[in-house]
Amino acid sequence: MSSDRQPLLDARDITVRFGGLVAVDSVSARFMPGELVGIIGPNGAGKTTFFNAISGVTKPTSGTLTVQGRELGGKGPHRFAANGLARTFQTPRTFPDMRVRDNIAFGLKFAGRRPRKYIWWGEETTVPWVLRTPESILGLIGLRDQADLPAAAITPSQQRLLEIGMALATRPRMLLLDEVAAGLTENEVEEMARLIRRLRDELDLTVVWIEHAVTTLLRHVERVIVLHQGKKIADGTPAEVVRNAEVIEAYLGDEMNEPTTEHVAEETTA
Ligand SMILES: Nc1ncnc2c1ncn2[C@@H]1O[C@H](COP(=O)(O)OP(=O)(O)O)[C@@H](O)[C@H]1O
Ligand SMILES: [Mg+2]
Repeated sequence: MSSDRQPLLDARDITVRFGGLVAVDSVSARFMPGELVGIIGPNGAGKTTFFNAISGVTKPTSGTLTVQGRELGGKGPHRFAANGLARTFQTPRTFPDMRVRDNIAFGLKFAGRRPRKYIWWGEETTVPWVLRTPESILGLIGLRDQADLPAAAITPSQQRLLEIGMALATRPRMLLLDEVAAGLTENEVEEMARLIRRLRDELDLTVVWIEHAVTTLLRHVERVIVLHQGKKIADGTPAEVVRNAEVIEAYLGDEMNEPTTEHVAEETTA
């Protein structure tokens, strides 16, 4: 009641257990329209599992999930997508044999599966022009020159861009990005960060961005959530979070002392 605007996504007391392991431990977070929020935390902190829970990929053990006012807890990923959520995976999921353009076209086709009335009247007319065709999406993500190549033939950083393009093609209101800058060079990471900000600014998206490159992320987001051992230990501006004693002890202290720590990506989707 304190806010006059409805959160795009409101997660309350989300818990995900895998047998005896509590991967996500009663995490609550609200994401408002147009916010750019980072999620950080050590490996195994529960970041990907939290994403899986809030996008319907993994059913939470308990807690409630409300997307644009609709209670979606327990529903599958298609229902979340139909309500405006799109995501990338820690390991990109593109179609390697299909041309880059056709990967995007697949996303557009998926958007067409939303209920007719929204597409025809309510929503399609408000879709930004830049998300209407594969060509315009390829321009937005900078892959126009690669349009006719098979997805398998483009570089790893271009694969990440393609996956973002596929997610955008579903015309989301909210974009969840899981380590889209992993494995990129320093310059590519910076370019990726700028693209993410542009997407938020120009498409008026809510963006939630998990990244291991903490220093880059902290420079670009307005709010950051810190997970540690499945629990949310901080939620605030980057300036607040880097001064938080619990965060420094749990995470940032180590990050600063071991800048070369190799990050081993785990694919943990159900
Ligand atoms: N499908 C699964 N089955 C069992 N354990 C899992 C599964 N997915 C993740 N985990 C465990 O949950 C914890 C959190 O993992 P994850 O969400 O991938 O962390 P992060 O993305 O922060 O590195 C880890 O201990 C991981 O091993
Ligand atoms: Mg992860």
